[in-house]
Amino acid sequence: MDRYTIFSYDTLDSTNDKAWELLIQKRIRVPFVVKANKQLYGKGRYGRRWISEIGGLYFSIVENDRFNNELLVCTTLALHDTLSTFGIKTRIILPNDIYTDNGKIAGILVERRGSYTVNGIGINVNQKSFPELDRKVTSMFLETGKTYNTKEILGNFLEEYFHSDYTHAFLRWKKLVMEHNKRLKVFTRVFTGDYDLKEIDMELNLYFDNLPMGRKYINLFDVIKINTVESRN
Ligand code: BTN
Repeated sequence: MDRYTIFSYDTLDSTNDKAWELLIQKRIRVPFVVKANKQLYGKGRYGRRWISEIGGLYFSIVENDRFNNELLVCTTLALHDTLSTFGIKTRIILPNDIYTDNGKIAGILVERRGSYTVNGIGINVNQKSFPELDRKVTSMFLETGKTYNTKEILGNFLEEYFHSDYTHAFLRWKKLVMEHNKRLKVFTRVFTGDYDLKEIDMELNLYFDNLPMGRKYINLFDVIKINTVESRN
């Protein structure tokens, strides 16, 4: 793995936007990481905002030539493992959310332009409350009562992320996903329904019984939305 530089800022609109700016306007060599203590317009999936007050960890990794399946698997697994290192047990919920029993603790927003990707990651670390949110959200502090060093968490995550091998990561990721995602509500452009997850392959094709039109699988990147209806445990 090449060495990477970390660009640290106090406040940014969004680390994803800054990452594109550094790549396109300043032609910074990839891979590199952009981190901020606070974001004014943190972006979430589905056009949502990602509330990014002081206390959380907000960063984006810029890379070239990484497949979406690899990004998704290596990122969610490295998040799961990093949080576990700091004493927090999480579940990987498809497509790429990280939950504890108390709510969402981390989120990922991957943006792609050609072969370049900006992989934006938000981890709720030291926040004591989320007054603006009505959804179930938690933080590392709310889970354990401890305050964490965000730099240490980032270091731990990047170490694992940049050293992961896809085949090995995929097998561990699949085991964790199959454990917790039993029945899924799948929204595609042509149909929506609840199906039992049977198998996942390395391209991230999800195999279900009884799909319409004789289909055997749906690729994770072809779904508009996917929700867990039932967990295995
Ligand atoms: C989600 O909706 O679950 C994805 C949230 C992703 C948030 C991170 S925080 C760092 C990076 N910069 C952004 O503007 N968004 C991502």
